[in-house]
Amino acid sequence: MRILLTGGAGFIGQHVLAELLRRGHAVRVLDSLRPDVHRGDARWTPPAGVELIVGDVRDRPQVDAALAGTDAVIHLAAKVGLGVDVGDLPDYASSNDAGTATLLAGMAAVGVGRLTLASSMVVYGEGVGLCPEHGAVRPAPRLEAALAVGEFEPPCPTCGRPLGTTLVDEDAPLDPRNAYASSKVAQEFYVANWARVTGGSAAMLRYHNVYGPGMPRDTPYAGVAAIFTSALRAGKPPRVFEDGRQRRDFIHVRDIAAATVAACERHEAGLVAFNVGSGTPRTVGEMAVALARALQGPEPVVTGQYRLGDVRHITADSTRLRDALGWRPMVGFEEGMAELAHADALGASPPRTP
Ligand code: UD1
Repeated sequence: MRILLTGGAGFIGQHVLAELLRRGHAVRVLDSLRPDVHRGDARWTPPAGVELIVGDVRDRPQVDAALAGTDAVIHLAAKVGLGVDVGDLPDYASSNDAGTATLLAGMAAVGVGRLTLASSMVVYGEGVGLCPEHGAVRPAPRLEAALAVGEFEPPCPTCGRPLGTTLVDEDAPLDPRNAYASSKVAQEFYVANWARVTGGSAAMLRYHNVYGPGMPRDTPYAGVAAIFTSALRAGKPPRVFEDGRQRRDFIHVRDIAAATVAACERHEAGLVAFNVGSGTPRTVGEMAVALARALQGPEPVVTGQYRLGDVRHITADSTRLRDALGWRPMVGFEEGMAELAHADALGASPPRTP
């Protein structure tokens, strides 16, 4: 296929690009090389045979030029991360929501009807918890007063008992808790609107916590695995927030790339959301230990600090993706973390082609 890949110069984008090329697709990349991702270095050389348009998805003429002659779009271009504060809201709304809306309008105008969207597990907010008495419940946002005294587990909204964890499926209610999450929910709704009006097909991939070589480091938007790697490389211990027992599903970027290309190639009709996780949740504390071991660095420090926008546990059930597209994660946790520990940051070197 002839594929437009937005955000192809980014962390996930470079791995998706490598996978697309490996599978014989013709790829055009649209990427603005935004300074907060590329550290102000607006140079990026695409692999041979890949056309790069340096441009913004909010810029309709650039979008139209990028879409010309393509069969499908993979839309990764976005402002990522938790956000620093409320001052970030306009940039999330503009980069992610206005950008997606502009892209969809461009696709409708030229009749490109296949879309794969990078969404996120953060759309579920706190997800679903298991109460011994009330079964599966939706935890409310955690209160600062509770976090401040070290009560990190969200209680059952009915009886206040501590909740057990479970895997969320794609039918769980959407409940965004921060600026980035809100922008991802909005993107999904814009895509739903586009699909309904144009008859286009869209796979919306709700990625879990992506890590691996090329991961951005040393920016306010870096993920926890990159933050811990940077600390360890500087000889410092990873600083684990809360009590370290918060659970995430860390999924390797090559598995994410394979899922993304599988969705682009194989998802045929309608609008479908797919969780993309390894299926093996870990605690943030366990992840810190794995990286410290791989780098033979100091033991992690559990600080008890917290961030108000953080959810406590969020872990995916990716059965739908496995069943519908035949995708399987291939990179194990210990192996993947050991690779990350010794890998370069974004832009330092091209990712390894599988
Ligand atoms: C991450 C991604 C988000 C993605 C989501 C998918 C980032 C910044 N966020 O959100 O884009 O959509 O996964 O599920 O990549 N922590 C520490 N020490 C630190 C920093 C963080 O212990 O120095 C803890 C946090 O409190 C949190 C956990 O690590 O409990 C994960 O934080 P983070 O990497 O920012 O990711 P998510 O919020 O899970």
